[in-house]
Amino acid sequence: MTTTLFLHSRITDPYPMYHRRLAESPVYWDADAQLWAIYSYRYCQSVLANPAALIPTLPDAGPSVGDRILPNNLLAIRNNLVRLSNPPDHDIARQITAGLFRQMSPVPIGPLVDRLLAAIPRGEPFDWVSSVCRKLPVSYILSSFGFSSEDEDFILARMPLLLSIMQPAIPDGQHTAVHQSCIEVYARMEQHWAGRTTFHNGMLAYTISNLLGLLIQSYDAGRGILTNALRRLIHEGGSGHPMIGDPSFFSKFVTEVLRYDPPVHHTRRVAARDFDLDSRLIKEGQPLLIVVAAANRDKHTFSAPAAFDIHRSNNHDLLTFGYGPHTCLAATFSIRMTADTLSHLMRSFKDIRVEESQLEFEPLINVRLLRRMMITLS
Ligand code: HEM
Repeated sequence: MTTTLFLHSRITDPYPMYHRRLAESPVYWDADAQLWAIYSYRYCQSVLANPAALIPTLPDAGPSVGDRILPNNLLAIRNNLVRLSNPPDHDIARQITAGLFRQMSPVPIGPLVDRLLAAIPRGEPFDWVSSVCRKLPVSYILSSFGFSSEDEDFILARMPLLLSIMQPAIPDGQHTAVHQSCIEVYARMEQHWAGRTTFHNGMLAYTISNLLGLLIQSYDAGRGILTNALRRLIHEGGSGHPMIGDPSFFSKFVTEVLRYDPPVHHTRRVAARDFDLDSRLIKEGQPLLIVVAAANRDKHTFSAPAAFDIHRSNNHDLLTFGYGPHTCLAATFSIRMTADTLSHLMRSFKDIRVEESQLEFEPLINVRLLRRMMITLS
């Protein structure tokens, strides 16, 4: 049995294991899982910056709809995604996705949060994850591109199916529904952009595919930071926190949550050719697991790494958003969205309680995401 890969739903606290590996074997060959697991800050950073360490290809997603790979097919969308591409395709996909972020208009988060909370009775427990966190990042992105609230509802309803675009396999029995959702959502987006922008050949397909990618990543990682940050803020005193009035408080706070308790624990690479790491030979074709959550607790980079400390001067050096050519394009976006949400909640409610006894984690390996977080607002 390997302790390198585990379901977060089964582990109360992965950090003691990360701590042991950091001390004893920062570059660890797991013979059961047949992969290298990298724990230290220095070696995680080195692999993420290494052009010989590539993003692994996802297995074939099964038959597409129709005989040809049309732009709205799952496979075509997947092939365009910056998050899954390697050089030389990665460059163009990254430029187009960075351009998407530049096109987003600022949207105040307060009214979006209030709309999601409108039907929630005050003083009664409700699930923060399903009521707000699974919807807010997607709504925020779509609103900032000027999509109508009808489009937003249509796309949000299909998000659980669209997640398959970035997953290794489509769940049994969902093939038709997943492909259908890709086609329908693609068509909505195409219609939204018709007449507004002139795209060169192929650019529209890249743009829509990567907007879909952003929605998928915000649906998962975005909800993770919204839950972890609120939970930690309540733990640290909520609106009674001594720094709450400081204009930079919320972004500093969210940054430290992302270092200390990140939603994404690791990412993967595969060696495109042999290379050395910590005097070990990584052979061509071997998979690598880059455990950024462990690197964030490396004492050689962060002083007293197990302490939650928003005043540490280098918290922004966290590896939670990756490093190198694939660094997350949404780091600033994610911190701002979360900081603004926390600030809005603190202004709107006198008392926020989190039911710590009822927390449940998703049965997933690479991300530590709360499946349910019961809270009460009054
Ligand atoms: C707290 C939330 C988030 C975390 C922890 C996170 C983490 C990461 C990490 C670790 C990577 C690099 C993966 C690798 O190198 O293998 C990445 C890439 C990426 N992230 Fe995020 N992310 C977050 C939120 C988001 C959101 C909300 C979006 C979209 C709106 C997003 C969009 C992207 C994109 C497009 C890439 C690929 C960049 C590239 O490959 O060039 N991320 N993210």
